[in-house]
Amino acid sequence: MRWTALVLSVLIALFPLSHASAQQTTLKDAYQGCFLVGAALNPAQFSGADTQEAALVKTQFNTISPENVLKWEVVHPRPGDYDFSLADKYVEFGQQNHMFIIGHTLVWHAQTPKWVFEDKDGKPVSRDALLERMRDHISKVVGRYKGRINGWDVVNEALNEDGTLRQSPWRKIIGDDYIEKAFRFAHEADPAAQLYYNDYSLENEAKRKGALELVKQLLAKGVPITGVGLQGHFDMNWPSSEQIDATVNEFGKLGVKVMITELDVDVLPAATPSQTAEVSLHVASDPKLNPYPNGLPEAVQKELATRYADLFGAYAKHCGLVTRVTFWGVTDKNSWKNNWPVRGRTNYPLLFNRKAQPKPAFYAVISAAPKKSP
Ligand code: XIL
Repeated sequence: MRWTALVLSVLIALFPLSHASAQQTTLKDAYQGCFLVGAALNPAQFSGADTQEAALVKTQFNTISPENVLKWEVVHPRPGDYDFSLADKYVEFGQQNHMFIIGHTLVWHAQTPKWVFEDKDGKPVSRDALLERMRDHISKVVGRYKGRINGWDVVNEALNEDGTLRQSPWRKIIGDDYIEKAFRFAHEADPAAQLYYNDYSLENEAKRKGALELVKQLLAKGVPITGVGLQGHFDMNWPSSEQIDATVNEFGKLGVKVMITELDVDVLPAATPSQTAEVSLHVASDPKLNPYPNGLPEAVQKELATRYADLFGAYAKHCGLVTRVTFWGVTDKNSWKNNWPVRGRTNYPLLFNRKAQPKPAFYAVISAAPKKSP
């Protein structure tokens, strides 16, 4: 009887303790010396309007990305009309909290106004005119945050799934060298900033090969590219640890830094036949695609934790080559995966729940960190 009581009291004493100590360990501390850990922020978080989430960001992360506020349509909505009000607040938040600050993104086919590619009659502009617009945009945006934004996603999503170059308005009007030009303009505007090529699904072989070729060619031409961003919009089964390993290794062999820039894990039924993160995609709502509107079942919660442990296990094998892992969002409440590619779903892709509390996946990520020698 006395023994049972003793065992019980030890268990009771230990359980909250282990939980409490895991809670005290933060993501950034757990991976200190391996890679930076970050999140993409929305204005409520970096302005401090959402005090709870702002506090969570300061505690857990040492690098931040702007979810939308540095995209062309936000900072440069009309010709000659720049609006840096939100971007300035984002950068101030990062500086005040001594974070590694990311700029996202300069040259992309999405969230870029149509006027960028058109003349005043609505006809496509010439190559020279578009290059001039690109240079002006990059020099104003990168130049404004020179020495404060540490790394830029210079070109976002330039590839098709088969590894060929996407026929974006940039490529159509300028030609294949638009990528090289974007990097050179960014380097001109801030020679000290890290400059990245960023894309999704590079874990798939065909697309990865295209990206490897692209980076190889850029390096051969002396284009100032410092890293590759693997977005990391994943699901519960894809990609495999082997795909991740091969991807990180192959970019590493080219001598560029590798970073996971937009990590989230979709737990809902697939709404598209193949993996994609193409933001223009819309799939009609269907209750079958939204099975957990009132909470994530315990079993799926556990599977998500295991999935996250495996992912971080795979990344932690490459400490130093992988320099950063950034989540695309802070809590499940504001994740873009609630509204893309199907509007109004209840998704659970991140480490913190809708009340900003750590999920089992959070503890799994902490436990997957390389053990530090005492
Ligand atoms: C998403 C944002 O999260 C949404 O708020 C916005 O409506 C659309 O864009 N790849 C990227 C990111 O590079 O910029 C996208 O962010 C997600 C996919």
